[in-house]
Amino acid sequence: MAKTVDIFIKAEYDELVKNLAQWDAAYHTLDAPLVDDAAYDAARRRLRELEERYPQLGNVASTAVGAATSRDLKTFPHSVPMLSIKDTFTEAETAEWLERVGGGEIFVEPKVDGLAFSARYEDGVLVRGLTRGDGATGEDITENIKTISDIPQKIPVGGVIEIRGEVYMARSDFFRLNESGGKIFANPRNAAAGSLRQLNPKITAARKLRAFAYAFGEVSSRTWKTQSEFFQLLEKWGFKTTKEWASAASDMDDIQAQYKHIEAIRSQIPFDLDGMVCKVNDIEAQRRLGFTANSPRWAVAYKFPAEKGITILRDIIIQVGRTGVLTPVAELEPINIGGVIVARASLHNADEIERKGFRIGDKVVIQRAGDVIPQVVEVLEHAENSRHYEFPIKCPVCGSDVVQDPSKVARRCINSLSCPAMLVGELEHFVSRKGFDIEGLGARHIEKFVELGWLRQPADIWTLIKRHGAEMRGMEGFGEKSIANLDAAIKSRARIDLHRLLFSVGIPEVGEATAKVLAKKFGSLESIRSAGVEELMKVDGIGDIMALEIYKFFRDKHTVAALDELLKHLEIVNPEIADADEGGFWFGKKVVLTGALVKYARDELKEILENRGAKVQGSVSAKTDIVIAGSDAGSKLDKAEQLKIRVMKEDELLEYL
Ligand code: IVH
Repeated sequence: MAKTVDIFIKAEYDELVKNLAQWDAAYHTLDAPLVDDAAYDAARRRLRELEERYPQLGNVASTAVGAATSRDLKTFPHSVPMLSIKDTFTEAETAEWLERVGGGEIFVEPKVDGLAFSARYEDGVLVRGLTRGDGATGEDITENIKTISDIPQKIPVGGVIEIRGEVYMARSDFFRLNESGGKIFANPRNAAAGSLRQLNPKITAARKLRAFAYAFGEVSSRTWKTQSEFFQLLEKWGFKTTKEWASAASDMDDIQAQYKHIEAIRSQIPFDLDGMVCKVNDIEAQRRLGFTANSPRWAVAYKFPAEKGITILRDIIIQVGRTGVLTPVAELEPINIGGVIVARASLHNADEIERKGFRIGDKVVIQRAGDVIPQVVEVLEHAENSRHYEFPIKCPVCGSDVVQDPSKVARRCINSLSCPAMLVGELEHFVSRKGFDIEGLGARHIEKFVELGWLRQPADIWTLIKRHGAEMRGMEGFGEKSIANLDAAIKSRARIDLHRLLFSVGIPEVGEATAKVLAKKFGSLESIRSAGVEELMKVDGIGDIMALEIYKFFRDKHTVAALDELLKHLEIVNPEIADADEGGFWFGKKVVLTGALVKYARDELKEILENRGAKVQGSVSAKTDIVIAGSDAGSKLDKAEQLKIRVMKEDELLEYL
């Protein structure tokens, strides 16, 4: 029997259909995807899942919306195939290889764990970038690699030269990306691959990708004789190499020493590597040795020991991050993997648990890739009495509802106002410029005050000085004056515009623009709080998902308690947020403000003008329509006079307002 569809499911479904239609249209007509491929795939997967579970919703997944879309990259053949390298795992195997190549000088480089690229230069200009693909044909990533600064777009080399290397993501950038609340990647390699193989190079550009160069493909005139010489040229041409961790070796002892050394410092190297590549240094000798069907005889990948282990998944716990994202973590029967005892490992997200079928009690495979947090890779064997894991629908830290953004896999706690896990992040948002804009309460102070237990919710800001001012006086960086200033800043913000308040409290999906729309349409916090989903949806610019988020926010007992506490300290003002009147004087005018005005603060005037449809600019140009000049106006006024632009003094301005 089909399950009944509640309004939440229906709203999620409608939003998915709407988004996918929009994304498909943008993708096909504009060639400018609105979301990255992973988000698109996740949304399609979710749509299919919903339709399978609730057939009465419809059958869009297999018909209309983008059923036949091909979101694939173009492909091109490689002029010289991109091969793989044979692996060795022991000193003996590596020594055997060394003997086969007849000894001689070996160049030893780290084996970077990323995605191979080939960059073709013609007369010094980067003309094409390809992935390795199947080795014979690669995917076109020309525009994407142009966004990576480690790969120069021009090099001082004539003719044709193809430079090959590895695109990778530094571990620190990988962690930051995963914490940013979007799709969660399993490891830096996947993150690099996912970021590089994008149809929209803007997405690639937004990710921090780096690259090392280490090999060449087609070359019209080779001027180097050895791999070590080639490394120096690469550096000279503007590429990055792994020279810091590479070395020349003349026998197996040297190779082994370098291997041990790199393995020992592996965790301090800022990127993941999974072994050492040993290459015959002399290029002519390489030529003579040649290739087997799929790898060169002159190179070998001497891998670090596989860092996998098998153990029991004892339990799954949830960690709540600073942005409120709930991350499932596996509690394991402790196991020794490569000398490190592993008792916990990441499970990434709820989807991953479902997809891979992890059940509590199962025998699972654990992997420690580089020094990234260990991960549960797959189920080896379901235990007879293993049990299904239900992802919580309440935040384990504060008990509030958990919500899921339909285009993302992450699930978040809704209680932005007082969930202890999110407090620092939320308070930073709360006092930010578009919110309460409290000067002197920066990120470092917030962190400190939260740690001391002085700030547990936004309301505490207004009792902070009274309760803890004395203690603050003894703290580093707090003088009498700065405390007085902070006190004044906090007090001055007790009178707050409704839309700023709405922005500050961190309702999911509600940014500055929506906050303004809400403030204008409803006029008071009370009417927004009591509005139903339908009523919210009637407002222009508020879709069903957003309406639902707003509705849920004001029904959560924890957020409501924190909000009520906060309101005790505030006086809400509701400034006129007028629709820009297209016939009005200010509509479409380009305006520059300069000098000091008596009646308005500059930010205030800017907002008033913008609400009437003016564009307030930073500098005077021939396109400026009006310069508003207060007292002590300087060079901008001079320039306006020079360009014969209309200048308005304060009394005239008042008339026009
Ligand atoms: S040389 C013909 N050098 O390993 C050999 N490869 O298993 C050309 N890799 O696809 C490659 N670090 O993605 C070379 N220092 C290094 C490397 C390296 C990583 C990757 C590369 C290649 C794979 C082969």
